[in-house]
Amino acid sequence: MTTFIAGGTGKTGRRVAARLEALGHSTRIGSRNGTPPFDWDRPDTWDAALDGVERAYIAYAPDVAVPSAPEHLAMFGKAAAHLSAITLLSGRGEPQAQEAEAALRSNAPQSTVLRASWFAQNFSEGLFVDDIVTGRLALPVGDVGEPFLDADDLADAAVATLVEKGHAGRLYELTGPRLLSFADAVHEIADAAGRAVTFQTVTPQEYATTLEGAPPDVVELVLMLFRELFDGRNAHLETGVADLLGREPRDFRAFAQANREAWR
Ligand SMILES: NC(=O)c1ccc[n+]([C@@H]2O[C@H](COP(=O)([O-])OP(=O)(O)OC[C@H]3O[C@@H](n4cnc5c(N)ncnc54)[C@H](OP(=O)(O)O)[C@@H]3O)[C@@H](O)[C@H]2O)c1
Repeated sequence: MTTFIAGGTGKTGRRVAARLEALGHSTRIGSRNGTPPFDWDRPDTWDAALDGVERAYIAYAPDVAVPSAPEHLAMFGKAAAHLSAITLLSGRGEPQAQEAEAALRSNAPQSTVLRASWFAQNFSEGLFVDDIVTGRLALPVGDVGEPFLDADDLADAAVATLVEKGHAGRLYELTGPRLLSFADAVHEIADAAGRAVTFQTVTPQEYATTLEGAPPDVVELVLMLFRELFDGRNAHLETGVADLLGREPRDFRAFAQANREAWR
């Protein structure tokens, strides 16, 4: 059984691929540089990417909340309607992401949706790592709690939904085990890395100036995510990891300790 992994070179996709391969399943990595190439903006690449595939994991790029996602996912659902399992990585508390989920399911009702909280790996592999290494992270977010989720837990959960029976059409909300503010998270990272790192809340306008050079739609997306996701709506824990894996999610402190080399 071959699993197509859209976003297979990204934070979650490469973890999902590694786990499936370790279990003896074959994978096809969905990437604009893959063989064959796969590009959300070029639907003519989708049929070849899905040829001979029986399951799919979808990490939509650049973000499941962008305006193009519902249309693309509805079309992808049609192209993938024959697959035995489809798992979509979605976001928590995002009406736009829910539109994208519904669009996929309109043509592929067997799809499983994983609504994930923010990944701890945003600090070690993503947007924030360079600022942490320079010793100061400044973001337009205040003292709100977020249950950061380890991308390894997300990948374990995604693999369970793909290889086990009983997850078709289901929705799971996945969070880490503890609410931390961004200041708390930076404090734990500084502690693990053994270096001084400060966190500062800045206005959206101040933050936008630090994204100088980024395309306007990317700046708008990032500002929208900070504005909408961290108003308190996601400041609660959910049980998706335990429901799917029968164990608790990994705590942020364990993540920070395991990734301390990323910030040295
Ligand atoms: N970060 C979070 O905290 C978080 C939390 C919940 C949900 N999410 C959702 O997670 C998804 C992103 O997943 P991720 O973090 O695993 O990925 P990621 O690390 O952001 O990597 C992006 C992936 O998408 C591919 N990609 C980029 N543009 C593409 C295009 N036009 N067509 C096809 N592939 C493209 C990239 O591959 P190539 O560059 O090789 O093409 C790469 O594999 C988004 O939908 C986001 O909404 C993120």
